[in-house]
Amino acid sequence: MTLGVRSMGIRGGRAMRRVEELRERTVWKSDPHTQVKHLVYRHYLQCWMAKILQKFPEATIVDGFAGPGVYNDGPPGSSIVVAKTFLEHSAHRRFNRLNLICLEERPDRVDELQRQFALLPRSPQLNISVQPPGTFAEEQRRLSVLAHRGRRETPVLWLIDPFDLKSAPFSLIRQCLATPRSEVLFTLFTNELHRFCQRDGFDKTMTAYFGGDHWRDVTNERRAGVRKEAFSTAYQQGLRDEGLFTGSFGIKISNQSARYHLILATHSEAGLKCWAPVTWKLDTYSGQGASADTADAPSLFDAASVVDRLDLALRAHAGTEQRWETLSSEAARLNHMDKHLRQVLDNLAAQGLAFRVDPVRARTAWPAGCTVRFYAPEDVADEAS
Ligand SMILES: C[S@@+](CC[C@H](N)C(=O)[O-])C[C@H]1O[C@@H](n2cnc3c(N)ncnc32)[C@H](O)[C@@H]1O
Repeated sequence: MTLGVRSMGIRGGRAMRRVEELRERTVWKSDPHTQVKHLVYRHYLQCWMAKILQKFPEATIVDGFAGPGVYNDGPPGSSIVVAKTFLEHSAHRRFNRLNLICLEERPDRVDELQRQFALLPRSPQLNISVQPPGTFAEEQRRLSVLAHRGRRETPVLWLIDPFDLKSAPFSLIRQCLATPRSEVLFTLFTNELHRFCQRDGFDKTMTAYFGGDHWRDVTNERRAGVRKEAFSTAYQQGLRDEGLFTGSFGIKISNQSARYHLILATHSEAGLKCWAPVTWKLDTYSGQGASADTADAPSLFDAASVVDRLDLALRAHAGTEQRWETLSSEAARLNHMDKHLRQVLDNLAAQGLAFRVDPVRARTAWPAGCTVRFYAPEDVADEAS
């Protein structure tokens, strides 16, 4: 039995056709989930490239499960998405060198990927290397050496997007994150985790996938949507326990629960600062997950935003003064942007619960670098009433 092929969520004959298509064909048809996933990649890479490629002399992206670079109904595959995001970036002439290393297990898909790259314009700053066919687990260490180019400090972003749970256990993700500026963008199979976590004999795979037993608590939850979110949270907890920053984004169709999650793991809070805008861009309501049918919605933050977690976190500062940098980093950890922070501060200030104490004069209410004093509702209450 093949567990974990994403399309196993589709029942009956359609599922069989999809599974066969993925197994037998070099190139297969895209689906709405893939489009959303690639939108997340593009938005994240836009920000990552602008920050990293103007700061460091070179950086590397490793697409560890690259696929053939194209879908048979036309859209580009992930490696081509990365290259195009670079080539079409408005700041790309100012970029330093980007190495793009692609690994794919099947020779026919490697050949197709080469063909797809040959169709792209060349750039001296973009160094593309399609590796001979190989499996990620066997090649990871060699790829890591290639990616770092002799410097542990080289920023390396790993895209880990397999078809199944077994190809990317936690030990491998940890290996990718072993250097100080490494990051991983990982496809977490929450639908399969939800469906198979209680199957006989599957617990070993689960424990290897999570790098521990902490997934077991989640199985007490029966509701599909809640359980999938809880698996994502448990996985992120495993990353936090390693001292990493992490973000998550559920990819779903319409109002169904997520089919899978994209998980970002990074050593740097700056990584989270790129992640939060991506998720808010694709999901104006909560910044937690996009539905495939709303991913193209043009509006950014005009919809009512859910900023309750940030509101609660700021209220907890009552009785203290906080520097802008502290508040901004707290917001980023809660997957919110500075824009949301200012919105919540406006709201608290209107209730008398937040005051800018420094600087006294400023052109905007909450300039970067300011200091804010927080009060509790009791401090504001009129004693006479
Ligand atoms: C989900 S697809 C990748 C899709 C691609 N990342 C994209 O977004 O367009 C997974 C790909 O990984 C390949 N693959 C499966 N197991 C692998 C392994 N252990 N190592 C490397 N590639 C593998 C499959 O042949 C398939 O092309």
